[in-house]
Amino acid sequence: MKFFVDTANIEEIKKANDMGVICGVTTNPSLIAKEGRDVYEVVKEIASIVDGPISGEVKATTVDAEGMIAEGREIAKLHKNMVVKIPMTIEGLKACKVLSSEGIKVNMTLIFTANQALLCARAGAAYVSPFLGRLDDISVRGTDLISEVAEIFNIHNIQTEIIAASIRHPMHVTDCALAGADIATVPYKVIEQMTHHPLTDAGIEKFQKDYLAVFGE
Ligand code: E4P
Repeated sequence: MKFFVDTANIEEIKKANDMGVICGVTTNPSLIAKEGRDVYEVVKEIASIVDGPISGEVKATTVDAEGMIAEGREIAKLHKNMVVKIPMTIEGLKACKVLSSEGIKVNMTLIFTANQALLCARAGAAYVSPFLGRLDDISVRGTDLISEVAEIFNIHNIQTEIIAASIRHPMHVTDCALAGADIATVPYKVIEQMTHHPLTDAGIEKFQKDYLAVFGE
């Protein structure tokens, strides 16, 4: 399983990129709004930092296929690594079909059922983004969705990649890796949490203490 970082914050993206663990970035309208900057300006800057797929979502107020197609073409023009993120609706599927047929990569987002994922794959999506955390929030096991989609794509030899999204904590990451996600898009805070273990910290402290006792500074 590969990692993307799920943020539009440039400092977080730089830190995750410097760690060498991520190979892409996802953004959404809420994450862009948090930064208070123009979406095109932000995703262009992100693409200059990370050499991998960068998902830029169509504006939240664009709900018709024609509008999504027009915006998708503009987003794709920003950088060769741009992926157009489109919400899972009938209009979204229509836009996905057109943009994908033009060679533009599409990430279909807000996926909550295996059927939605299957439809997106058939409309030509390069990626589908099932949302784990938001399902867990309503007492539905999000990782079950990842397993179902992975199994279906495997049975039918579908090449669309599964991006496990809406990840809230390190156990989500382990669970979706076991469930067969191709990629997990992870908030920076969770990437940092994943690096920690109290025995690692205690081990470093002991090595330092033992070394200093014999060799000094
Ligand atoms: C990424 O593609 C999604 O937009 C994001 O992971 C959603 O996360 P949230 O449910 O924590 O807002």
